[in-house]
Amino acid sequence: MADPFPDCEVIGTDLSPTQVNIAPPNVTFEIDDSQSVWTYPENSFDYIHIRGLFDSISDWPRFYKECFTHIQPGGFLEHFEFSVIARAEDGSLTPGNPFTRWSQNAKEAGDKIGKTFEIAEHTKYLIAQAGFIDVVEERFKWPIGPWSSDAKLKELGRWNLLSWEEGMEG
Ligand SMILES: C[S@@+](CC[C@H](N)C(=O)[O-])C[C@H]1O[C@@H](n2cnc3c(N)ncnc32)[C@H](O)[C@@H]1O
Repeated sequence: MADPFPDCEVIGTDLSPTQVNIAPPNVTFEIDDSQSVWTYPENSFDYIHIRGLFDSISDWPRFYKECFTHIQPGGFLEHFEFSVIARAEDGSLTPGNPFTRWSQNAKEAGDKIGKTFEIAEHTKYLIAQAGFIDVVEERFKWPIGPWSSDAKLKELGRWNLLSWEEGMEG
């Protein structure tokens, strides 16, 4: 976003200091809890992009409302989220399968701490509830591992497998 629009100001936020050292000059990073009351002025953003905040937010309606308040009229909210509930089209994820159990355990863990893992499934409804209009949902398959015969999905699957292998234990 910062590269094709060099005149815009981009702010990247995360609760942890995960930010990269190299970024375009119009990017700044802030360590911030997105669940806190937002201190940015109202109507101050043209576009807010959220990615991968499953298991991070305890009150999604309130969070989306903050987005609505801080995006100026005519602006955009984009939420890219993925489901941690693994699915298999070939029926291999049977109820006793370890991966199926992992998904269930993750869901239970999120419910116990009050920060759901199941947000991808509800974003469209909740975003509309916050007041946004023209809400569009696109769903994508995201293979885990390089099993797909489609070259693009195969490549995505390779990266996704790495992501799962590195993140699953946590
Ligand atoms: C799955 S990672 C996604 C990271 C990044 N957004 C991406 O898509 O590559 C989840 C991130 O959410 C951050 N996080 C968790 N709770 C948060 C909160 N309340 N406010 C801001 N960031 C939070 C974590 O520090 C972690 O870096």
